[in-house]
Amino acid sequence: MSGEDAAAGAPAEPAPPAQQPVPEGGGDAPAAAPAAEPPQYRALVLSGFGGYDKVKMQTRRGEPAPPGPGELSVRVRACGLNFADLLARQGLYDRFPQPPASPGMECAGTVLAVGEGVTDRQVEDKVMVLARAGLWQEIVTVQANQTFPVPDGMSFEEAAAFLVNYITAYMILFDFGNLRPNQSVLIHMAAGGVGTAAIQLCKTMENITIFGTASASKHDALKESGVTHPIDYRTMDYVEEVRKISPKGIDIVLDPLGGSDTTKAFNLLKPMGKLVTYGVANLLTGQRKNLMAMAKTWWNQFNINALQLLHLNKAVCGYNLGYLDEEFELIGGVVAKLVTLYNQGKIKPKIDSVWPFEQVTDAMRQMQEKKNIGKVILVPEAPKEEAKKADK
Ligand SMILES: NC(=O)c1ccc[n+]([C@@H]2O[C@H](COP(=O)([O-])OP(=O)(O)OC[C@H]3O[C@@H](n4cnc5c(N)ncnc54)[C@H](OP(=O)(O)O)[C@@H]3O)[C@@H](O)[C@H]2O)c1
Repeated sequence: MSGEDAAAGAPAEPAPPAQQPVPEGGGDAPAAAPAAEPPQYRALVLSGFGGYDKVKMQTRRGEPAPPGPGELSVRVRACGLNFADLLARQGLYDRFPQPPASPGMECAGTVLAVGEGVTDRQVEDKVMVLARAGLWQEIVTVQANQTFPVPDGMSFEEAAAFLVNYITAYMILFDFGNLRPNQSVLIHMAAGGVGTAAIQLCKTMENITIFGTASASKHDALKESGVTHPIDYRTMDYVEEVRKISPKGIDIVLDPLGGSDTTKAFNLLKPMGKLVTYGVANLLTGQRKNLMAMAKTWWNQFNINALQLLHLNKAVCGYNLGYLDEEFELIGGVVAKLVTLYNQGKIKPKIDSVWPFEQVTDAMRQMQEKKNIGKVILVPEAPKEEAKKADK
């Protein structure tokens, strides 16, 4: 599928099944051997906005269309579940196309076929793929420049957990945040996908004080991963907790929550501090769209004008990877730096759990019910120990 198709999440149009050859001598010939089953592959499809039951498994019959010029087809081995997939299911993510469409912004697998003009990928190469939607399928067709080679030693599950979380964490911390040694960072949703990546990236710099909010059951894991001050935002006022430890505030606040939390983030900044807002998790309160939560988040939206900002010595940045999907060079540069960090052993995706496509509801629940520590992964087939070992 083209970049646009991938963006639109349009499932690859399967070509009509090849016609059965007519035996010589026409219909009088001896009975032909039973026709071979046409190939089939499975896809998860969002049938309409709403609850978990809106994501359905579909089986497609026939060969997928061959890749066009500049494209690749990939046999998918693992897919990442992102918070935006939960928002998309409820109709709250504007980069997701109208259903029916396949969700999925990232996956990893092996190249099945290359289209004309593709010189830097070959059949059997292991690749990770980034797209606006459409990747929760057994076979996907994407532009070659939406793919990146899987580093040696990285499993398909890790590769499916790499792109969205680490690109986001890298760009908000280092490009917008300009993180430097001896600074402090507040990371919300610290035990989740982006949170885990952000913690690991903070640890690549000397003496960073990390404040991390998460449910209390995850605090041991947060401490192990390097969070200096885990805070249980569900039972405590995290602003008060931060102020007790650091009365002057924080150098960089990462805000994936939106609404009143953006204002709190801004107020927590030290002079020359930076707020990077990159999500609206506060919109998600249950299985279906919650109009009250939407109204509350909108009503509490952070507002500031340039004149006010002028006197405050603070920066406000907004980040959305979904709107950088045509910035191949920019993103390619970030991925190259991340792969170097991976190869140096400084970052490594943390997998929370791996779910077969059939259990997509359980996978979504795992994240939506706040149980995950690290990344939730979907696989087309239940993982086999042998295959898993072979991938490593
Ligand atoms: N702008 C971008 O380009 C971009 C890219 C990637 C991700 N993001 C944003 O980054 C944030 C993290 O994304 P992720 O994919 O890595 O997800 P994630 O952090 O793994 O999300 C799940 C965790 O978030 C916490 N959480 C906080 N509020 C929640 C809510 N209302 N409903 C459910 N869980 C909630 C829960 O943990 P605790 O309760 O323990 O904290 C839960 O376990 C999201 O806001 C996402 O939209 C933005």
